[in-house]
Formats: sequence, structure tokens, C-alpha cells
Amino acid sequence: RLEEDLADKKILVTAGGTQEPLDPVRYIGNYSTGKMGYKIASEAAKRGAEVTLVTAPTSLDAPQNVEIIKVQTAQEMYQAVMKEEDSQDVIIKAAAVADYRPEVRESNKIKKSDSNLTLKLERNPDILAELGKVKGDKVLVGFAAESEKLKANAKEKLIKKNIDLIVANDITAKDAGFASDTNQVIIISEDEEVELPNLSKREVATRLLDKVNQYLKGE
Ligand code: PMT
Repeated sequence: RLEEDLADKKILVTAGGTQEPLDPVRYIGNYSTGKMGYKIASEAAKRGAEVTLVTAPTSLDAPQNVEIIKVQTAQEMYQAVMKEEDSQDVIIKAAAVADYRPEVRESNKIKKSDSNLTLKLERNPDILAELGKVKGDKVLVGFAAESEKLKANAKEKLIKKNIDLIVANDITAKDAGFASDTNQVIIISEDEEVELPNLSKREVATRLLDKVNQYLKGE
């Protein structure tokens, strides 16, 4: 592989877990640390791409030579991605986006009482599905974090959301998925399934970018 084989390509990556505020001190979140998405962003930049990283809050250092856009909620991520999408060659959605947000964001801290508390949630936009609707020539890559029927569920997302590649992530596998430094994935396209062994997230990023590059070249 050429050192700068992604030169002149614009790649947007999303990473981390969105946070959906309940009140000034609490939010609904998930276990994503951003490691997977940050590795993709940094590897793409090393290979010469012009990279934008739209990131939910993480404790990671910003990768070098990457433009960073910080967001907190799914709605903010949606707006940031939609603002940038038109100029991108590739969009890779490694973020874990909350499907629901609290219907009300209380301006004061919710006080406890003796009775139970019921939260009402409303739907967030599905960013990947919206991107699928305005796909054009872009290469769209989604992730699918699944705890059951891995391949079938991932393939369904690929077709339903009109994307090119989906990285099926078995989050029940050992040392894979959320928070670990390694991951185990199947890269699924319409006509191919590539099962990778357990690899470092950097190596998963490399393999995924190899596949994306094949798409860019029309191979
Ligand atoms: O960050 P790490 O700790 O390194 O963990 C990595 C990871 C497990 C988070 C990552 O590898 C991963 O699998 N990311 C996707 C997690 C996820 O939320 O999957 P999903 O099956 O719920 O969503 C499918 C796809 O649609 C994803 O590309 C997601 O970004 C996107 N989506 C989901 C919901 C939504 N409202 N909008 C979206 O765009």
C-alpha cells in the first residue's frame, strides 16, 4: 500500500457516545470511549486524507492533523455531520448515537422524592439513515453494534440505510466492542463478508480504510 494512498480524499469520522441531558448534572449515555473512531481518524490522516472528526465527549487526545468538531448530543452530531456531508468523499460512523433523548431537559436539578420517577424519551434523528438519503457518490460506512443475530441485523442496516459498508461489531465477544483496545468485526458489503480476527483497533481501522479505498477506486 502506498504511504499516502488517501491523499486528496475528504473523510469525515464520527466517534464516541452521545450524551442526552436530563438536567444540569445528569445525562443518558453509553459505554463508547471513542477509541475506534479516533483510530480511524488518525490512520486516515496518516494516509494523507483531509479528516474531520465529529466527536462526542471522550477522554482521548485529539489525533494529529485532524479537524475536530466537538458535540454532546445526537441532535448536535446530526447538525454537525449534515453541515459537512456534502463536501465529503467518505463518511464513517463509528459513534454510538443515542436513539432516544429525554423529552424534557430540566433547567434545575431533578429532586428526589419518595415515589418512583418515570422518564419520557423521544426519538433522535438517525444520522446514518439521513445520510443514506443524500448519498450521491459518497462512500458511506456504518457500524452495527449487535448482541444477537450479528450478520443478519447488520445486513438489514446496510440495505435499509442505503450505505456501502457496515462494520458488524459483536459486542458480546471477548475483548471487542466498547472500551477495549481490540475489536472483532465483520466488514459487510452488498456482495461480500470479510470476517477479521480479533485485532487492535488501529489494525481494524487500517483494514477498513483499505476496503474504503477499494470503493473509492471503483474496484
Ligand atoms: O468507542 P469505543 O469504546 O472504541 O467502542 C467502539 C464502538 C463499539 C462504539 C464501535 O465499534 C461501534 O460499534 N459503533 C456503533 C455503535 C452503535 O451505536 O451502533 P448501532 O447499531 O446502534 O447504530 C448503527 C449505525 O447507525 C452506527 O454507525 C451509528 O453511528 C449510526 N446511528 C445510530 C443511531 C442514530 N440515531 N444515528 C446514527 O447515525
